[in-house]
Amino acid sequence: MEIPNPVLHIGWDPRPIGALHRAGAEVTCIVPAKDAPAVRAAGAAAIVVADPGSVEDILGGLARSALSPSDFGAICSANEFYLVQAAAVAEVGGALGAGSLPTLAMRDKFVQKDMLRRAGVRTAGHTLVESLERLDVTTVGFPQVLKPLHGAGALHTVVVRDEEGLRQAIEAARQVCDGPWLLEEYVPGQEYFIDGVVRGGEVLAFSLSRYFQNMIECHGGGVVAYQTLPEHEAPALYTESRALTEAAFKALQFQDGVFHLEVFWDGVEAVFGECAARVGGGRADRVFELTFEVNLHDEWALAALGLPSGIQDEPLRSTESYGGLNLQCQQGLVVSVPTTEETLALPGVVEVDIYVAPGGVTPDFHSASHMRAGQAVLSGADTQEVAERIAGLSTWFQDSVEIVPAVG
Ligand SMILES: Nc1ncnc2c1ncn2[C@@H]1O[C@H](COP(=O)(O)OP(=O)(O)OP(=O)(O)O)[C@@H](O)[C@H]1O
Ligand SMILES: [Mg+2]
Repeated sequence: MEIPNPVLHIGWDPRPIGALHRAGAEVTCIVPAKDAPAVRAAGAAAIVVADPGSVEDILGGLARSALSPSDFGAICSANEFYLVQAAAVAEVGGALGAGSLPTLAMRDKFVQKDMLRRAGVRTAGHTLVESLERLDVTTVGFPQVLKPLHGAGALHTVVVRDEEGLRQAIEAARQVCDGPWLLEEYVPGQEYFIDGVVRGGEVLAFSLSRYFQNMIECHGGGVVAYQTLPEHEAPALYTESRALTEAAFKALQFQDGVFHLEVFWDGVEAVFGECAARVGGGRADRVFELTFEVNLHDEWALAALGLPSGIQDEPLRSTESYGGLNLQCQQGLVVSVPTTEETLALPGVVEVDIYVAPGGVTPDFHSASHMRAGQAVLSGADTQEVAERIAGLSTWFQDSVEIVPAVG
């Protein structure tokens, strides 16, 4: 099949750009100045703009290079913050793209829930709050979750249990912006996620994982850790969440691409949380690849280029079990931190990246689930061993980092 060259990608990330190159694409990236050297070193062309998330900047950057969207065969992005812009610019140029409206349905939390609820898919009731200042808190039923429309990593997302809690949440949220925000019914249950591939409306790969704690717990110091679960360990949840996924994709008209979908499960009923048309965050990509020998970035690229999936039959699961976690520690000034080699020496640690160094300050782990001192992928003979190893690594890392605690 013909590759729709040249290809425009909004943003920079070596994994999807590598995948586009492996699929045979000639890639130009729209990036901020800081990313241009890495883009060029990876063999792609770079067009520098101030903000790749601005359609004006994208069109301006192209025009300054004597280009327009119609000069590209396909226009795409693997970056969740640029998905809609890439789809819209593709439409401007008549290039292959994911379609701005279907992409918005996989991005805007209100639009997504609205489409799902209209189609009868089980998900939280939701209300758009156009102005927090003007919200009449006496009309709100509790508990609810207050969140930004385009949030990520549970940033600025809080559970509110009563009027006073809502007033406090509003005060904090208004520091970010007055509106619009989303209020959602609180869904009880444990949170799980599914990574997979859908092509022509058919789910070709479906991998269920459990979070050790719901993501929102990160605000209270909860661990951000996850592990894959084989179907025989969660048969009812597999059946329910697969049916939910298929119904959701039909309602959202999401036919082609990779996905990262979150569900709540109370032991009986699966409730749709949200779904993004991208590879999952953290090390979900590596955990998936080690489990199924399928690279989700490659699958994303093939879908973005309109090429057939590399998956023929439902991928076979490794006999090993895998999981991943964020490495966290006390907050403050870092005095010393374990090396990569020391961390890799722990049982089952397959991969590790450490982001803090002596002299640096730790990020605010409580603000969002993607704040971390490092990340690791672990393996084990079974689910239980992986869970034990994740807990062991998490504790060992916290105990091993030397910190001068932050004051206040
Ligand atoms: N309606 C709800 N009921 C219960 N918990 C919720 C609800 N909405 C969100 N949460 C919790 O807050 C977290 C963050 O919310 P959500 O997934 O909507 O936003 P996000 O910040 O985009 O997350 P992501 O990092 O997955 O992009 C969820 O993972 C979940 O733990
Ligand atoms: Mg989420």
